[in-house]
Amino acid sequence: MHLLINRRRYWQGSYTNLGTHLQTVAESPSDANSESKTKLVGVVDVTALRDEAVLQHLQGADEYLYVSGLAVSKRFRRRKIGSCLLKACEMLSVLWGFKYLVLRAYEDDLGARTLYANAGYRVVSRDPPWLTSWIGRRRRVLMIKQSNFLNLINSTFQL
Ligand SMILES: CC(C)(COP(=O)(O)OP(=O)(O)OC[C@H]1O[C@@H](n2cnc3c(N)ncnc32)[C@H](O)[C@@H]1OP(=O)(O)O)[C@@H](O)C(=O)NCCC(=O)NCCS
Repeated sequence: MHLLINRRRYWQGSYTNLGTHLQTVAESPSDANSESKTKLVGVVDVTALRDEAVLQHLQGADEYLYVSGLAVSKRFRRRKIGSCLLKACEMLSVLWGFKYLVLRAYEDDLGARTLYANAGYRVVSRDPPWLTSWIGRRRRVLMIKQSNFLNLINSTFQL
C-alpha cells in the first residue's frame, strides 16, 4: 500500500490545502504478477484554518489542521484504511507543528463517529439548533484531537 501526498497551495494568504491519496499496488493474489497496477482506495484532505468559532475550543492555538473529505472505496472498507489516512493527517500535523486536528461528522453517522472516536477525537460542540431546524441540514458535531509526537507514536502501535 502506498501513501501519496499531493500538495496544492492556494493564492489566499497562508491558506494551504493538502490532498492525501492512498493507493494500493495489488488488490488480490491474482494481480500479484501484473505490472505495477495501482488503484486509488481512499482520500482525505487537510487544510490549515483559523476559524474563531473553532479556535475557542483549542487552548493556546491560533491555527489548526482541518481534516475533511475522508472517504474509502466501498470494496476496501473495514480494513483500517480510513484509520491509516487519519494517522497520515496526524503525522503531517506533528511535522508541521500544529497543536490540534479538527473535523466535523454528522451527529447520526455512527460509523464515522466511531472511527473518529477510536482515533482519539472527542466532541467539543454541535451545530446550533437554528442551523438544523431552519435550514434543514443534518446536525454535525465538531471533534478535536491534540496532536503531539508521543500520542502519535503510542497510537501507531495500537493500529
Ligand atoms: C467512514 C469511512 C471513511 C471509514 O473507512 P474505513 O477504512 O472502513 O475505516 P476503518 O477500517 O479504519 O475503521 C476503523 C474502525 O472505525 C469503526 N467503523 C468504521 N466504519 C464503520 C461503520 N460503517 N460502522 C460502524 N463502525 C465503523 C469501527 O470501529 C472500525 O473498526 P473495526 O472494523 O475493527 O470494527 C468509510 O466508511 C467511508 O468512506 N464512508 C463514506 C464517506 C464518509 O462517510 N466519510 C466520513 C465523512 S465525516
